[in-house]
Amino acid sequence: MSEIESAPPGVDPTVPSPARLYDYFLGGTHNFQADRDLAEQLRARIPDFADAVLANRGFHVRAAAWIASQGISQFLDLGSGLPTANNTHETVQALNPDAKVVYVDNDPIVGAHASALLAANKSTALVVADMRDPVTVLASPVLRDTIDLHAPVGLLMSAVLHFIPDDGDPWGLVARYVAAVAPGSYLAVSHGTLDRMPPDQIQAGRDGYARSSANVYMRPEADIARFFDGLEMQPPRPDAEPELTYVGLWGAEDVEAADSDGSRGLYCGVARKP
Ligand SMILES: C[S@@+](CC[C@H](N)C(=O)[O-])C[C@H]1O[C@@H](n2cnc3c(N)ncnc32)[C@H](O)[C@@H]1O
Repeated sequence: MSEIESAPPGVDPTVPSPARLYDYFLGGTHNFQADRDLAEQLRARIPDFADAVLANRGFHVRAAAWIASQGISQFLDLGSGLPTANNTHETVQALNPDAKVVYVDNDPIVGAHASALLAANKSTALVVADMRDPVTVLASPVLRDTIDLHAPVGLLMSAVLHFIPDDGDPWGLVARYVAAVAPGSYLAVSHGTLDRMPPDQIQAGRDGYARSSANVYMRPEADIARFFDGLEMQPPRPDAEPELTYVGLWGAEDVEAADSDGSRGLYCGVARKP
């Protein structure tokens, strides 16, 4: 059977998807030739693209672990992507074996590959849904059976909000999820930015994603900071002030080494709901 014939139901292997591109850059195998071709074109025209992906995933893992270290034992990971090494439930359940994780993603490739990984783990579940529909996501029986929304939750939204255009009101959407969780919950967001990107690379990114199943809507720092309105921003490192920072720098042990050009492709922050 060819690679294309083996595509799970609902997956169009001829059109690259953000989840599969991301998986490829992380060294995963849940991708097709069309994804690999576009990924390599992006890498050729945006040399720091792969570094940005790795820096973002590093932030996601460190932020989840830090939130768990604050005593949070349930997580809602929106736009979770494919389960790869170091995924959220492995990270937080290594710190607290009783931690619960619900993944949400709208790409059918995630559902196709997650079921085997999650079957043996009763504390972890996947909802295949569009996060732009918070009513459906939050009412999901799978979510309600796994997470108690009356207790604090770690809301993780890494590298996903830049797939939602301004007219989809991503700020209002984040506020809906924050409103649904208990005080003492945490919000972690990372989000792509063009603030430091040369114009030819901006165009390369636009051209590339125009060929995929989703457009990207990178934002300046001030627009990304607005996702945390009304929340208590946390310091990215024990010696730092509470602030938005670049993904490599959040929780970095060696700030100088982590301050790469790829890291500067995404801002991030973690904040607490008072
Ligand atoms: C770049 S990956 C990020 C994965 C992971 N959050 C991380 O940062 O390591 C973006 C993921 O968001 C998912 N996604 C994009 N738009 C979405 C939406 N409206 N609802 C749910 N998932 C979405 C994609 O399918 C993809 O898996």
